[in-house]
Amino acid sequence: MKRSAWFTLTFGLATTAWLNPSCPVMAQSTFTPNYDESKIVPYTLPDALTGADGSRIATAQQWTARRRPELLALFAEHVYGKLPGRPAGMRFEVQSVDSEALGGKAIRKQVAIWFGAGADAPRMDMLLYLPKTGGRVPVFAGLNFWGNHTTHPDPGIALTTRWVGDYEGAANHRATEAGRGKQASRWQVETLLARGYGVATAYYGDLEPDHPEGYREGIRTTLKAVTGLNETDWGAIGAWAWGLSRMMDYLETDPAVDARRVVLHGHSRLGKAALWAGANDERFAAVIANESGEGGAALARRNYGETVWRINTSFPHWFVGNFKTYNNNEAALPTDQHELLALIAPRPLYVASAEGDPWADPRGEFLSAVAAGPVYRLFGKKGLETTDMPPVNRPVGHTVRYHIRTGKHDITAYDWAQYLDFADAEVRK
Ligand code: GCU
Repeated sequence: MKRSAWFTLTFGLATTAWLNPSCPVMAQSTFTPNYDESKIVPYTLPDALTGADGSRIATAQQWTARRRPELLALFAEHVYGKLPGRPAGMRFEVQSVDSEALGGKAIRKQVAIWFGAGADAPRMDMLLYLPKTGGRVPVFAGLNFWGNHTTHPDPGIALTTRWVGDYEGAANHRATEAGRGKQASRWQVETLLARGYGVATAYYGDLEPDHPEGYREGIRTTLKAVTGLNETDWGAIGAWAWGLSRMMDYLETDPAVDARRVVLHGHSRLGKAALWAGANDERFAAVIANESGEGGAALARRNYGETVWRINTSFPHWFVGNFKTYNNNEAALPTDQHELLALIAPRPLYVASAEGDPWADPRGEFLSAVAAGPVYRLFGKKGLETTDMPPVNRPVGHTVRYHIRTGKHDITAYDWAQYLDFADAEVRK
């Protein structure tokens, strides 16, 4: 997503609030992010290894039995909202298979994941490319921003018919042929296939269109009777995370997929969703959070770049209502984001930043990954094993890895080269 376009949209939406002089948004509409390390207000992180009752978590078994469920419940209550399970009656409809896709290099499947038995049930449309190896393959799975057809120029990919953002290749919030392949550089499909991995993706707008009124058309509304939850019991990030688990439900049934080796990944807001999905759903073998920033990997307590107030104001639909009580009050949060990262343990985790993306607070992402380390060590795994932030383009770590690359907010060939090496070493071994 182009940030400039998004800001125009979100500032537009916030305008009505600004018209009300008693509205707190008014007073703060001149938000200036802090980009000065010397102006970081000192903070103390909650200790991942101290239970709510003050007891010390000293073993992997105590973490799994006590602390892990406790932290998941805290993140649900204060940040992301409840996350329902698999819907009754869910079914998979393989809508097309092309065994000679991408010039004969791949199998392309398009699968409708229906969230109920009826013909009018809501659904998401998954695109899956598999290398032609004959065996079960590991897969990288993640949601996309603009529709499946934007991840590769392949003319066989169905265009989404849903609401889409105002991006190049869309017209009146609908996808057009002109959008094909527009985000292909972020997916590097051929490179992943050549390394023996499959690629699974779905459009995040299938779960919930990304604007403050999007929930009306999204699963938080359409699946109310099935999930038993109200729209306000969860947020859009929760809805997107839920969709990732439904992709996994399908992948487990596909005989060409090694479902024990599905690597979940996401960029930016979809990195936040990937972390929340991976924290909850232990079927994912590893998680990659690419420039996930505030509400993702970055520590909430560090006042650098985007803040809790700013994200809740621009994107009021992303988190549960409770999260707004921490606007300009991060110290009161019972959690911080290193504990979300720790919920991935002992599974491999990659946190990545970009030098040209200060908004996402690269150092806050690094420090968060450092602070997740003690939980990995409980499991006998190595985390980053350093507290020194590495220079650009120099990945560090083991089961937990981190890099900051040169360049802007994006997912690049450089990022993918690191993720493939990480998956080879930590997932495929
Ligand atoms: C905005 C938002 C970030 C988010 C990003 C994105 O910049 O403030 O929190 O990560 O959009 O999703 O690209």
